[in-house]
Amino acid sequence: MASLASMPRSRLASVPGAARRVAIATTCVAAAVVLAGCNEEPTWGATKGVTKQAHDEFKLWYGMALAGIAVAAIVWALIFWAILRYRRRDDRIPKQFQDHRVLELIYTIVPVIMVVIIFIFTVAVENFMDANPAKPAARIDVTAYQWGWRFAYDRTGGVVVQSANNGHPTTLPRSYFAKQYPTLTLPEGQTSRIYLRSNDVVHGFYVHAFNFSRYALPGWLNIFSFTPTRTGWFPGQCTQYCGLYHSEMLFNVHIVTPAEFRTWLAHKESQLHSPGAVTTAETSSSTGTGGSP
Ligand code: CUA
Repeated sequence: MASLASMPRSRLASVPGAARRVAIATTCVAAAVVLAGCNEEPTWGATKGVTKQAHDEFKLWYGMALAGIAVAAIVWALIFWAILRYRRRDDRIPKQFQDHRVLELIYTIVPVIMVVIIFIFTVAVENFMDANPAKPAARIDVTAYQWGWRFAYDRTGGVVVQSANNGHPTTLPRSYFAKQYPTLTLPEGQTSRIYLRSNDVVHGFYVHAFNFSRYALPGWLNIFSFTPTRTGWFPGQCTQYCGLYHSEMLFNVHIVTPAEFRTWLAHKESQLHSPGAVTTAETSSSTGTGGSP
């Protein structure tokens, strides 16, 4: 292959034209990509979420994604500028120098400022995610076990919703595979506080629509709160490999209006206190049907 030095002058002279064509093509592709998503604000793989906490998490992600794109654009522009502007034109050795104070100061100070800004926003969002208001509308004990979930309302052990396997892995009933996943019911617009624990091994409590994941750890209590902003059904799952039926550790989240929530809770409590109905409340997971609305 011919080296640049041995190229005829006419070929070298054609490089700027080629560079221009590359620049035009790149701009066209970039414009097509950007404009294609114009009817809807791009989320770059994230979800805006359905809780106040999730919204803040999304905004943090969005800001960091925008900053990342801006940095990438500057870096790529500088790389291509350097490639084209300082390409080899002849055999003369360019000016040689070892340092450039101004440049070094800029590329040290600017990233430090960026990291400080990202740090401040991250801490603010994390503090909001971890905040537990004094008077939640509902307190729910969430217990993960091999292989299911148990949701006990109001911390009294009263209303309980749990997986059909009832927490006895050695006697998994056939109905376990009938997709009888339990449903975590939450009121819209009010803050519910979750007390998360594990009965056996490490599990992961994850709700995609909440932009939220947390370990359920044996011997450790994790407390966090959600304030849902809209009603609907949303899927949840265990995200920590926890044994043979890890993939079956699914649950639904059902967000209802506060009035519907009170009615639902009262109905469950009445079921609980009517004679012979206790087992119904304990295994009332049949309301969940896999997360579809
Ligand atoms: Cu529990 Cu995976």
